[in-house]
Amino acid sequence: MKFNRKVLWVLLMLVLVVFLAACNGSGSKDSKQSSENSEEDADAESSEEVTIVYARGTDTTPATEEVIKAFEEEHPNINVEQREMPADTGQSHDQYVTAFSSQSPEIDVFNADVIWPAEFAQANYALELDRFIEKDGIDMDAYFPGTVAAGKFNGKQWAMPQYTDAGVLYYRTDIVDEPPKTWDELISKASDLQGEKGTEFGYLMQAAQYEGLITNAIEYIASYGGAVVDENNNVVVDSPETIKAIEKMTEIVNSDFVPNNITNFMEIETENAWIEGNAVFARNWPYMMSSSNDEERSEVVDKVEMTMLPKGDEKSAAALGGWMTMINRYSEHPEAAWEFVKFISGPKGQKISAVEGGRPPTLKELYDDPEVQEVSSLFANPEFREVLQSAVPRPVSPIYPEISDIMQIELSRVLAGEQSAEDAAANMQTKIEKAMAE
Ligand code: GLC
Repeated sequence: MKFNRKVLWVLLMLVLVVFLAACNGSGSKDSKQSSENSEEDADAESSEEVTIVYARGTDTTPATEEVIKAFEEEHPNINVEQREMPADTGQSHDQYVTAFSSQSPEIDVFNADVIWPAEFAQANYALELDRFIEKDGIDMDAYFPGTVAAGKFNGKQWAMPQYTDAGVLYYRTDIVDEPPKTWDELISKASDLQGEKGTEFGYLMQAAQYEGLITNAIEYIASYGGAVVDENNNVVVDSPETIKAIEKMTEIVNSDFVPNNITNFMEIETENAWIEGNAVFARNWPYMMSSSNDEERSEVVDKVEMTMLPKGDEKSAAALGGWMTMINRYSEHPEAAWEFVKFISGPKGQKISAVEGGRPPTLKELYDDPEVQEVSSLFANPEFREVLQSAVPRPVSPIYPEISDIMQIELSRVLAGEQSAEDAAANMQTKIEKAMAE
């Protein structure tokens, strides 16, 4: 009967294995993992359940929810818990700096504004992604080169491009026949058409004292042929071109066709007034197309188009925005975190973010996808790919937040009538030079 005993023994072992496996899987979806997770690399490949925390700024579109849903379907053992950060990128930045400088493992994956990777890499907040990229054979040439470069610092890749951004001009197709080609044309059309179809305002933009003001200002500055720094990182902001640009922006901010409190407007305020049908023109990022066509929230469904921003003396210029995905250096689940980063920056994640969220992909091939092209005529327009690729970057520097603060203060003082554009240009020049020299 030796044989039977052996069979019994094997059966017993089998039962035990099944029992243990069941115990392991019984952790509830949202329960935090035990300390066993410090065995980092097991996460993604084993069937053990793991919860990662993904932090990003407020998303007023359904895109983030949908991306997470699609990811969890593909990875039943990885749960993604969302952590909502402030919509104001500067405020999010400061919260991340607080968390990461105390080496907190709480956040695993986070969205990083294109202006952060150099700073975060230098401060040692993030994980280098090269080993993951190599292991999974990610083709970095499939992305717009500028977006890959934004995630590189000291020869290493710290961030994966998730979506890119470029400032665009929105207009109401039921009011406007021909969108304006220059800032002066915008001024005359906005004041002529204000009031049509119940609109209260001719134009909306972002003029609050925060990062978005810098992107608006950079568009005026570049459109008049000016720049903040040149290709060799020399500060060149004190120029007649910049002064003229700041004066044009100030003329618009102080006009009768923008809201009285335009200097409190960020993207959210712009979007809310816009989807209520309160304005003829608006400057915002492409995501507002998705909000405009949201049947549940918007009064302007199918009445909105976006196009290139007006020209100054030189050209039409869009500021380069966009968001990357990074991994917290102190994440206890780097492998699972990478799986999520790979998904969200890969073709499936980016398509969801384009179709559900109106966000311009960084993967070139997606612009040939019919569903992406349907988002707006601009996404289908090959010229827009050029706009995205030639968008004007903000200075790339580990001290970018300081540069931005200087500009925010100096520009806001002009908008408030407290100093001239000449003084602002001169002050920015000396203060930015000083900050960069230190
Ligand atoms: C958008 C851009 C980002 C920029 C921010 C300013 O989110 O993608 O790059 O810094 O707006 O408000």
